[in-house]
Amino acid sequence: MSIPVIAFFNNKGGVGKTSLVYHIAWMFSDLNLRVLAADLDPQSNLSAAFLDEGRLEELWPENEHTSTIYGAIRPLQRGIGDISPPRLEKINDRLALVPGDMSLSAFEDDLSQVWPKCLDKDERSFRVMSAFWRILQQGAEDRQAQVVLMDLGPNLGAINRAALIASDYVVVPLGPDLFSLQGLHNLGPTLRVWRKGWSERLTKSPGKDLVLPKGNMEPIGYIVMQHSVRRDRPVKSYEKWINRIPGAYREFVVNSMVKDPPKVADDPNCFALMKHYRSLVPMAQESRKPVFHLKPADGALGAHMNAVQDAYRDFESLAKKIAIKTGLNLP
Ligand SMILES: Nc1ncnc2c1ncn2[C@@H]1O[C@H](COP(=O)(O)OP(=O)(O)OP(=O)(O)O)[C@@H](O)[C@H]1O
Ligand SMILES: [Mg+2]
Repeated sequence: MSIPVIAFFNNKGGVGKTSLVYHIAWMFSDLNLRVLAADLDPQSNLSAAFLDEGRLEELWPENEHTSTIYGAIRPLQRGIGDISPPRLEKINDRLALVPGDMSLSAFEDDLSQVWPKCLDKDERSFRVMSAFWRILQQGAEDRQAQVVLMDLGPNLGAINRAALIASDYVVVPLGPDLFSLQGLHNLGPTLRVWRKGWSERLTKSPGKDLVLPKGNMEPIGYIVMQHSVRRDRPVKSYEKWINRIPGAYREFVVNSMVKDPPKVADDPNCFALMKHYRSLVPMAQESRKPVFHLKPADGALGAHMNAVQDAYRDFESLAKKIAIKTGLNLP
């Protein structure tokens, strides 16, 4: 049986994907779940959140990067073998990271080219298309992880197509603004096209010993990131966009029309309205911790500590909702 993979995805940038993967991975591990976080965005922001500069420098030497997601793919890309087992960065006893790599962009062309070739039952094409999934499953097995959380870059390119084919569930972070709403118009239909395209290809699978992902990429809900609200925009505009989210999510992502969509606060598709954590964010980045682990020694004094405790409750509730929707049993 495969280990469930949850992707955090929106082709709109800067909506909080990386920050959510980082915080939810930590929260799941606090809740005693064994987690593998995977950085599949060539920008590698998730790796930079988990690891200090010294460690990043070691992972990304001048020559070959053997210990990153790209390193695991390299033998396959060079045509000298299949994927190699991923080297995982241990964050704590229950949490590990598949480190990202800027060089991963070099895989984009290969992934574009093999997509049509799968229809010709070409075995290497299936190996390339399923590389991410197989790497994540090997990593999860190695760490006995119960779930994989995946961070992706903000685009609808070939890397993200292969990454989403590796996912069972998709959580959509978005902001209450025009761009996020427009993003949903592309996101929903694209997921459907990719899902259908992959299931068509699965019928041409070369079989043998190659186990392939199902490519479910089921959208399970959205998270509204209030930090992305622009301060120079009037409150009215915020209300206009936020009220449109439930209808747009249903129409474009779930692909069903509703006459009177609920408000965000009552929408079963809405996991959470994420607060703006303000000065806790730079403090947490500096201490390389999730906001809800900040201590007075990190600078979280007085009212800050109340905000830290609120953040703990917010993320605990969010992580539990995601666990329920994805059938994860919290110990
Ligand atoms: N709840 C929050 N409160 C305050 N700031 C936040 C919050 N969540 C995220 N941010 C900040 O917003 C910025 C964008 O977040 P993040 O990098 O997670 O977005 P992203 O969707 O991953 O972006 P990209 O598309 O470039 O990968 C970051 O500077 C992050 O620290
Ligand atoms: Mg990001």
